[in-house]
Amino acid sequence: MPDIKNEILRRRTFAIISHPDAGKTTLTEKLLLYGRAIQSAGSVKGKQNDKHAVSDWMEIEKKRGISITSSVLQFEYEGYCINILDTPGHQDFSEDTYRTLTAADSVVMVIDAAKGIEPQTRKLFKVCAMRHIPIFTFINKMDREARDPFELLDQLEKEFGIGTYPMNWPIGCGCDFKGVYDRNEHQILTFSEFHGGSNRIEAIHCDITDTQKLDELIGEYSRADLVDQVELLDGASFDFDLEQVRCGKLTPVFFGSALNNFGIEPFLENFLRMTTTPLSYRSGEDFIDPSCEQFSAFVFKIQANMNKAHRDRIAFMRICSGKFERSKEYFHVQAGKPIKLSRPQQMMAEEREVIDEAYAGDIIGVFDPGVFSIGDTICEKGMKVQYAGIPTFAPEHFAIVEQIDSLKRKQFQKGITQIAQEGAIQMFFLPGTGLERVYVGVVGMLQFDVLQFRMESEYGVKYSRTDTPHCLVRFIEGEVDPKTLNLMQATKWVQDSKGRNLLLFTADYEINWALDKNPGLVLKEFSQMQEIQ
Ligand code: G4P
Repeated sequence: MPDIKNEILRRRTFAIISHPDAGKTTLTEKLLLYGRAIQSAGSVKGKQNDKHAVSDWMEIEKKRGISITSSVLQFEYEGYCINILDTPGHQDFSEDTYRTLTAADSVVMVIDAAKGIEPQTRKLFKVCAMRHIPIFTFINKMDREARDPFELLDQLEKEFGIGTYPMNWPIGCGCDFKGVYDRNEHQILTFSEFHGGSNRIEAIHCDITDTQKLDELIGEYSRADLVDQVELLDGASFDFDLEQVRCGKLTPVFFGSALNNFGIEPFLENFLRMTTTPLSYRSGEDFIDPSCEQFSAFVFKIQANMNKAHRDRIAFMRICSGKFERSKEYFHVQAGKPIKLSRPQQMMAEEREVIDEAYAGDIIGVFDPGVFSIGDTICEKGMKVQYAGIPTFAPEHFAIVEQIDSLKRKQFQKGITQIAQEGAIQMFFLPGTGLERVYVGVVGMLQFDVLQFRMESEYGVKYSRTDTPHCLVRFIEGEVDPKTLNLMQATKWVQDSKGRNLLLFTADYEINWALDKNPGLVLKEFSQMQEIQ
């Protein structure tokens, strides 16, 4: 029987984040090839060739050829049990993308070397920074024309306020890309174009002072550049400090080319060595030790209608401590009731597999008959634990959603309330108006399509939707009567399900105007209202 502690200590659970097209899918695929979890490239996601993989569960996902849902991929690699949390990469990403990050112990940030930091990476980085988890940077597509590597590091440091430590250094880029120099091992990895499989590139040991050998390997011209740059780097860059890496203050940076399978293996090995074992999650004032014997988990995502044939709802849980056993009865803290988790499963590339056991660090999906909410805790009976809830993230798009068929009033209200409770959308009320006309807020526009699809297919309801120009939302602090506020015409007063007052704005200047004209008014951002785990 596997020892619980050992099983937990060999888990590495991380998410890969990037702006669309930076190469997240390609990198994921190469990592899976190394783990022999898939046999050929193209199995993770086929954008153009109509191949659909694990994350393409929903109909509209198929129609649009993009992945909405985040999936979890588990594989073994040299004694490690690796869980990759895949985050939707399309522009229309949703709140699920953010929530998924609360279940990861570290993050790999893929950056396109020609583009540097892009908007979606910025948003996702913010969530990771709030949790102080380790962040590893893979600067991809070095086989193409790239920005100056010093400039890329500078951008990371300035924009994200973190230190950078290049683990390797690129020798040229594009047509002149010769490979990378491993700063710790003093070895050169020479580049050659290669698109498939998990070939291992032989590293050539070569000290930076060995001019003759360097000239043979990369040519005189590239050697001179490399020597200058490495000297500059050694003088100016941050010192390596694993503690700083572990708390997200220093990001190890790797240069490579995912498509050419170049730099993947050293990246994976260094990453596994530096990243953390499953982290402790907070319950009240305590942090629960992941390797304690008792099982506990929290729900970070609920996915409805994953398989049309079964019309099922799956609650995804991150195991925070101990060992999960299929046959055991557990306790659902928020409901105050014992619960047996049925059909527990793990996702593996194209398959969902029913599992008998899982350990802290793992993600499991369980059949949800409609009892779970996002943030719920499930644990061993008698264990006193309740994990801090998952925050809701500030919506950036708003629409007024209104029922159009009064005969279907009940279905409309039931549908929109349930979908909001699940966390697929956020619902706001117009003071003095009922549920027949509400404001819906979403993080990504695609959530509107999900809402429409589900309202029609699950509740049989059509409705009208009018998008509004609002993109910013703030809570009003204190006992202020919003009716007495002096606001610009475009600003809208709404309430959330707890009756809290919020204001919707179309631009920053509108917020400043509200603050200027109403002395004493305090407006709070979402992140200030809800503390992240
Ligand atoms: P994403 O998941 O972050 O959205 O990006 P994805 O991996 O799908 O990669 C986006 C495009 O960039 C793909 O090309 C992919 O082949 C290419 N790419 C990824 N890594 C590298 C690299 O290291 N070098 C170069 N030159 N290209 C890279 P595509 O034409 O959009 O798709 P496909 O035809 O390859 O499927």
